[in-house]
Amino acid sequence: MTTSAATSSDAGRAVASGGARDFIDLSDHDSAYLRHLLALTASLKSGEISGRPLEGRTLAMIFRKSSTRTRVSTEVGMAQLGGHALMIADRDSQMGRGESVRDTALVLSRYVDAILIRTFAQDEVVELAREASVPVINGLTDRLHPCQVMADLYTAAEEFGDDFGRLRVAWIGDGNNMAHSWLNAASRLGFSLRLACPPGYGPDAGILARARAAGDVAMVDSPAEAAQDALVVTTDVWASMGQEDEQAAREQAFAGYRVDEAVMARAHPSAIFLHCLPAHRGEEVTAKVIDGPRSRVFDEAENRLHVIKAILLDLMS
Ligand code: CP
Ligand code: NVA
Repeated sequence: MTTSAATSSDAGRAVASGGARDFIDLSDHDSAYLRHLLALTASLKSGEISGRPLEGRTLAMIFRKSSTRTRVSTEVGMAQLGGHALMIADRDSQMGRGESVRDTALVLSRYVDAILIRTFAQDEVVELAREASVPVINGLTDRLHPCQVMADLYTAAEEFGDDFGRLRVAWIGDGNNMAHSWLNAASRLGFSLRLACPPGYGPDAGILARARAAGDVAMVDSPAEAAQDALVVTTDVWASMGQEDEQAAREQAFAGYRVDEAVMARAHPSAIFLHCLPAHRGEEVTAKVIDGPRSRVFDEAENRLHVIKAILLDLMS
């Protein structure tokens, strides 16, 4: 992002009952705080903020699902900030053998300065944040993926500026964790969001209702309608982690929900394509679109690093 310098702001920071500030749901925060994080991201990416501000700090990363971008960007980000990140995978941790979230939170809080967790149930992240006395960051659940959508917003702002009131986003495909975090972001930042999802695969009714009440958000009937005049066209896999056994049924249901050149032709002439990755070329997006001139998916992936550094710096310093 090129505008507004990073400012220090306490506005909109969510505090769990454990007393630490957390980053687990975009709707916990107000627009001032989300903008503060985006400005901090810009300062880190440009090098305006450098050095080793997290020297001596340690982050625990609990991964109960696979990851490439989230794990690597967070570990590299901690190293670049002068701190240390340690990986805790289900296969070799006691949590993976059933140790409670509460005991894990209480023990890790004695060792580390913050915890990032990727898991299935959102409630598990909420419980971890409640019981831990250190900040907790949501690295993806079945319900939400807030760090990714912050990187997507930052990538959109690099292209179109940070006047989010002028942004128009089309979500095409599953009403999943990514769609939910886009809805939460729209409700806070006020951009236009159109979603085209197959029948039966729409977003959570509560998240949708809250976003519709707060902003310019609508479900539409087709990918072409969603993409009409959009500045950002985005999608995600048809079957998310944990839904592998639904792949065949989903391939049928989502067949008309592919982002192809015809869909992109409906968008604004300057429109960009975003995808959180990993992508399935030929399913939710064609190779021509994701590997074409409008795609910004690798800038988006790079921005995961700058965004997580901003979140870590804000929560841990
Ligand atoms: N986009 C994203 O979260 O990627 P990973 O699953 O590789 O972390
Ligand atoms: N919706 C996808 C996102 C992966 C980054 C999943 O949950 O698997």
